[in-house]
Amino acid sequence: MDKRLVKLTDAAGLAPGELAAFRSEKGLADEQADHMVENVVGVFGLPLGIGLNFVINGSEVLVPMVIEEPSVVAGASFMAKLVRAGGGFTVNTSAPEMIGQVQVLELKDLMAASMKLHEHKAELLAEADTFDPLLKKFGGGARDLEVRIIEESPIGPFLVVHLIYDVQDAMGANAVNTACEKLAPHIEQITGGRVHLRILSNLADRRLVKASCSIPVKELAFVTAGENGPLSYTGEQVRDGIIEAWAFAAADPYRAATHNKGIMNGVDAVVIATGNDWRAIEAGAHAYAARDGRYTSLSTWGKDADGNLSGELEMPMAVGIVGGATKVHPAAKAALKLMGVKTACELGGIIASVGLAQNLAALRALATEGIQRGHMSLHARKVAIA
Ligand code: MEV
Repeated sequence: MDKRLVKLTDAAGLAPGELAAFRSEKGLADEQADHMVENVVGVFGLPLGIGLNFVINGSEVLVPMVIEEPSVVAGASFMAKLVRAGGGFTVNTSAPEMIGQVQVLELKDLMAASMKLHEHKAELLAEADTFDPLLKKFGGGARDLEVRIIEESPIGPFLVVHLIYDVQDAMGANAVNTACEKLAPHIEQITGGRVHLRILSNLADRRLVKASCSIPVKELAFVTAGENGPLSYTGEQVRDGIIEAWAFAAADPYRAATHNKGIMNGVDAVVIATGNDWRAIEAGAHAYAARDGRYTSLSTWGKDADGNLSGELEMPMAVGIVGGATKVHPAAKAALKLMGVKTACELGGIIASVGLAQNLAALRALATEGIQRGHMSLHARKVAIA
């Protein structure tokens, strides 16, 4: 591991020791852990591996991945190599806008309350924009205000205000929750109702990332050892098999849950390595996968005009590079340094690329030799250790 770390530090163009946190005891000292949560009695370790071969928007990236499952780091690295042959991953991100929800109850006329809020929208937004001067200084702040009427619920109809907040390079939960809490009295005053919940939504569907890739069909061909001699797959066979596997997930929620779990194998590994809130990312991903009323695949696979395999992954990406554990956890800080990310959007693009690579690894294996062969040889090592 020490030798690998020296090589990694060199490859990333960092000074000796800049990634030392990866090798220090558990990456997190007792003292730091004790300040992070309550009733601390220890620190729980997980392996940190490096996803290799990633080219994202034309740049080389070495990706830290924290995960307990074998095959994930290898699978992502191998697929990134195939994608590299097609020019690498392309990522696009929307503005880092989070949604804060304010629930307003005890309103006699929901339409009238909604209209009043629209009349006072500019004033509410101007007020919300003053709540976080530091965020404002860095270009963030209140962006929009939407009013929704929930017609049916177990307690009858009520109103919800959505405060759209640009959180820049933060995950944004603190900024958004604070803004919602501070804005609540004004909302009560305008509507005459009672504000109940004031909290961000993890369905961050205004903070999306899209990663796409194209793999030359010939890169997909391979030969493997079968039980009765070598088994060979043509590029076209593998490509079509991957598209058929994706179609299963696109059409069936039972398969989509497993398909998306494979995507999250890659996504969560980077989210955890960077000290981000993986439950938030999980919640957002699965809610987004069900946004049209039926749970489906987060990715799409098809073939382009030249017969190459093309893939795309779009999902919410509420991650930050400032605040929270990202700036407290030494190994998380080293992880950000390794990738050289300057913005949360950049980090989101890397995470989505790893998710897409991971999805490709799973589909390629499932569509050809099955996943057990690769899995079981690695699993055997764990059994031996156990
Ligand atoms: C296992 O962790 C993930 C897979 O089940 C994903 C998939 O089926 O697509 C292999």
